[in-house]
Amino acid sequence: MSHRPHHISKASVAAPVTWPVAATTLLLALFTLLLLPLGNPASAADKSADGKAADGKAVDKKPADNAVSRGQYLSRAGGCMACHTAEAKDGGKEGVPYAGGRALKTPFGTFYGPNLTPHTEAGLGRWGEQDFIRAMRLGLRPDGAHYFPAFPYPSFTKLSDADLKDLWAYLRSLPPDATPNRAHDLQFPFGFRFLLAGWKWLYFTPGPMSPDAAQSAPQAQLARGAYVTQALSHCGECHSGRNVLGGIRKDRILAGAAKGPEGKSVPNLTPTGLKKWDDNDLREFLLSGMTPDGDVTAEAMAEVVRNTTSQLTAQDLTALMAYLRSLPALPSEK
Ligand code: HEC
Ligand code: HEC
Repeated sequence: MSHRPHHISKASVAAPVTWPVAATTLLLALFTLLLLPLGNPASAADKSADGKAADGKAVDKKPADNAVSRGQYLSRAGGCMACHTAEAKDGGKEGVPYAGGRALKTPFGTFYGPNLTPHTEAGLGRWGEQDFIRAMRLGLRPDGAHYFPAFPYPSFTKLSDADLKDLWAYLRSLPPDATPNRAHDLQFPFGFRFLLAGWKWLYFTPGPMSPDAAQSAPQAQLARGAYVTQALSHCGECHSGRNVLGGIRKDRILAGAAKGPEGKSVPNLTPTGLKKWDDNDLREFLLSGMTPDGDVTAEAMAEVVRNTTSQLTAQDLTALMAYLRSLPALPSEK
């Protein structure tokens, strides 16, 4: 593994920059902006009226005690199916769950979520658990090529080994499906995976969240909330400010942005933004997508509600809310 160790400061990047380096950096910067998918794709069918998820399995919010059902829960909380299932077209049927084909539009081209089922040719049938862990933890393909951060591994890298193993067990339990992967349709020169090495060096910090030594009840809840928010449900991918190079600004985490992934503003989730709502309002919003005024949230967030926040256990949802309430209050961007 040639990955730079965790503790090396990224500040060294600020050293005098030569023009070719600057040019490459700018190119990489463009990358980040364009790699952000426009909204979190999802499917209305994720949770249908009969209480079954679109994968046909009953929606059971209680985390069960075997690897496959724990992995199923993690997969919902991580919104995996949304990006890895083709959407219904013109009133037609959705694609086979997890068989890929969902188009993720960006201003610079379209990504297609790949097939994650255990099919030998079309899916991950030849992968071992270690290949999966490497993909999620390091953003690397089994052949060593870099993944585009349209796959939110900069968040998933924070997942624990145990959770990654459970996710893998769940993916292995899916019926194999032969739907072939669709090549991404990216404009020149953004299709070059090797450019991602530079982007990752600047903006990607691999490794699981360090387990909090905190043992007391409120601290344990906050630690769980931080894990759900950052590692699993990747709220900050949309709700954080980004610098001109497209990296998440460490001083603007979850503080919203005047220009989010769709060019529209994304609200501030620190107490400055959320103090207008009490816990009941916030919980109701995260379960139904309805604001206290009776407004329905815009589609990007409605999808997150359908796929992720409404699927969390009451305990995880409470922890997520407690974590948001505990954030430093940051001003909103104008
Ligand atoms: C916002 C959309 C999005 C979400 C959410 C998402 N993925 Fe993906 N995923 C992608 C895209 C796009 C790629 C392809 C990246 C590339 O080709 O560089 C990908 C690639 C992958 C790959 C590599 C597949 C291969 O054939 O090489 C795996 C494994 C994977 N995702 C697993 C997951 C899991 C598990 C989750 C949920 C915890 C998840 N993804 C959530 C968009 C997403
Ligand atoms: C794909 C991008 C995306 C992701 C991921 C995302 N959000 Fe949002 N969220 C939005 C957008 C866009 C809005 C504004 C919607 C509107 O204007 O109706 C929003 C609105 C909200 C609001 C309403 C705030 C207000 O002041 O009106 C809350 C609360 C919220 N999101 C919480 C979350 C949480 C918690 C997560 C992680 C589980 C999350 N969001 C993940 C895009 C996202």
